[in-house]
Amino acid sequence: MNFDEKKYVIKDLTLENETIRYRAFMNLVYVEKPVNPAYQQMHIFAPEIYYEGGQINGYKIDSAPVFMPNYVGGYMPGDLEEPAYSKFEPDKANTIFRALAHGYVVAVPAVRGRIQKDEKGLYNGKAPACIVDYKAAVRYLRHFAGEIPGDVNKIITNGTSAGGALSALMGTTGNHADYEPSLAALGAAMERDDVFGASCYCPIINLEHADMAYEWQFQGVNDYHRMNMHMNEGGRPSFTPVDGQMSEVQIKASGEEAALFPSYLNSLKLHDEEGNPLTLDEKGEGSFKEYMKKIVLASAQKVLDKGEDLSNKTWLSVENGIASDMDFEEYVRDITRMKTAPAFDDLTMDSPENDLFGNETTNCRHFTKYSRENSLAGGSMAEEITVKMMNPMYYVEEEGAATAKHFRIRHGERDRDTSLAVSAMLTLKLQNCGFDVDYHSPWDMPHAGDYDLEELFAWIDEICR
Ligand code: DHB
Repeated sequence: MNFDEKKYVIKDLTLENETIRYRAFMNLVYVEKPVNPAYQQMHIFAPEIYYEGGQINGYKIDSAPVFMPNYVGGYMPGDLEEPAYSKFEPDKANTIFRALAHGYVVAVPAVRGRIQKDEKGLYNGKAPACIVDYKAAVRYLRHFAGEIPGDVNKIITNGTSAGGALSALMGTTGNHADYEPSLAALGAAMERDDVFGASCYCPIINLEHADMAYEWQFQGVNDYHRMNMHMNEGGRPSFTPVDGQMSEVQIKASGEEAALFPSYLNSLKLHDEEGNPLTLDEKGEGSFKEYMKKIVLASAQKVLDKGEDLSNKTWLSVENGIASDMDFEEYVRDITRMKTAPAFDDLTMDSPENDLFGNETTNCRHFTKYSRENSLAGGSMAEEITVKMMNPMYYVEEEGAATAKHFRIRHGERDRDTSLAVSAMLTLKLQNCGFDVDYHSPWDMPHAGDYDLEELFAWIDEICR
């Protein structure tokens, strides 16, 4: 593991009529004993002007925040990325380009993912590999602080969906001993791995409670609608619709999962900003549900204030320009169900999460008691510690975990990949423990990330100055 300040290339790149000149330190292997060297390396980019004593937005070589996005989706391997046009919006510069133009140092680690195997055919990217690698990359940055550009005390992680989950984990599990054996085995630097801020778009977290949260929200809607994505030959995403009705077994699971949610939610002992307890009765009704409605109403209010007409939303009551009430069940029918029950710990073990929780020799495993007991695949159960290490909820209050000072969490108003309750519970847990969380559910936004870079960068600038 080394870092050579003299080993770099200077690149000029013009996208969208804007030119950036940056210094690129490429393919830095961030552990001493990589098990997958291609995926345990990172690129670091810095505005070249910093090496000439210049500034961007008031930042200099040693004061610029280190923006640290990951490109994990679906708990698959996270690839190395560079400044370029966006894969999903080919006429727009990607986040890395935008972050450099704004004056951040950008560190992009690749991380291992659930499908990878070693030369003996053993899986080596199952949980917790992705989060262990992300931490190792942070430790590398700290190890070479002073030589690498930027301020390592201002590391901000960023990711979407499974990548948002990793960012949330980075923000909550800093330096925790649970990860130490895995980090030591890889020869990660003996440094801290806590970060300053975590930006999390639609984090797919709290996986062992996500099935019950999903059914608490979607129970009663038995038809599902989703798009299956695959990359076409040109490397562009292409989508095919999948529509269907849940089976009797799935409908039964929906009811049983929904019934499990209130006691989990109540066990968290969450409260709102005024200290009022947020709870649910056994039917799933109560102050927590009212709080969830407030999140959706705040989402609507933001666009109403900009003059948008929402009169086609029959579930929404608007009085004198104020989003005053909503019918939660009708809102759920409007956004539609995406996943069948159980949404994450699939009874036939066909979900990305079953695959995430495999081990060296087993591709897929269960990770909830319900699905293990009701398995249609006879699957085995992941170890409790592995499931814990993938769930930021446990670490917020846990001794020995350094929590980021700032979080920014976004979860689209019509995102159905996980229940809106999932990101709300993390936000409340953090806020109730005194941490700063900027939370919003953007109106009409599906499962997506990095759609509001100007606001994201404004948040970073605010917390870093
Ligand atoms: C992602 C989406 C999912 O619906 C899921 O269950 C896991 C990951 C993703 O987009 O990363």
